[in-house]
Amino acid sequence: MKTKSIAMTALMTALLVILGLLPPIPLGFIPVPIVLQNLGVMLVALFLGGKRGTLSMILLLVLGLFLPVFSGGRMTPDALAGQSAGYVLVWVLVPSALALLNRLMPSSHFVLRFLKIWLAGVLLVDVLGGVYLAWFTKQSLLQGIVLSNLAFLPLDTIKAFLATYLAGYLKKRLK
Ligand code: BTN
Repeated sequence: MKTKSIAMTALMTALLVILGLLPPIPLGFIPVPIVLQNLGVMLVALFLGGKRGTLSMILLLVLGLFLPVFSGGRMTPDALAGQSAGYVLVWVLVPSALALLNRLMPSSHFVLRFLKIWLAGVLLVDVLGGVYLAWFTKQSLLQGIVLSNLAFLPLDTIKAFLATYLAGYLKKRLK
């Protein structure tokens, strides 16, 4: 990896850690909070692409073995033992999912860039995270998915929009 590439990966991982420091917002009707760290996951996927993005996500999990990098001051073992583990595990797949969508739909038009990160960083995460949540809390699959999507889709869609805008703006600036 070139120096710039390593620096970008380290910087984006630091951003994930910083966003993890922000307090989660609990919702009464679902045992998973609103967090800002998933905005970071989307930015990581958009900025770093498939391979380096996945590396950054794995680095977060490794850092979390020593530091409280997840919202609410939790470490990786706690994050992977609880009801939100599904969301965290799917986060690792987001950069590769986006890279796959970029190969299938190579256009870089804003609307398409937004759609791709929404599919990879919001829909995939909220649906599979909801499936895990349903299994963990012994709810019906439908209940888990519907609840997860009702709770998170609106704000996560705004985060995806913000991530698309920010990534586009910063990429242009960095060039
Ligand atoms: C954790 O810190 O244990 C992970 C929390 C996962 C929260 C999920 S990510 C997708 C959805 N959007 C949110 O704001 N919260 C949930």
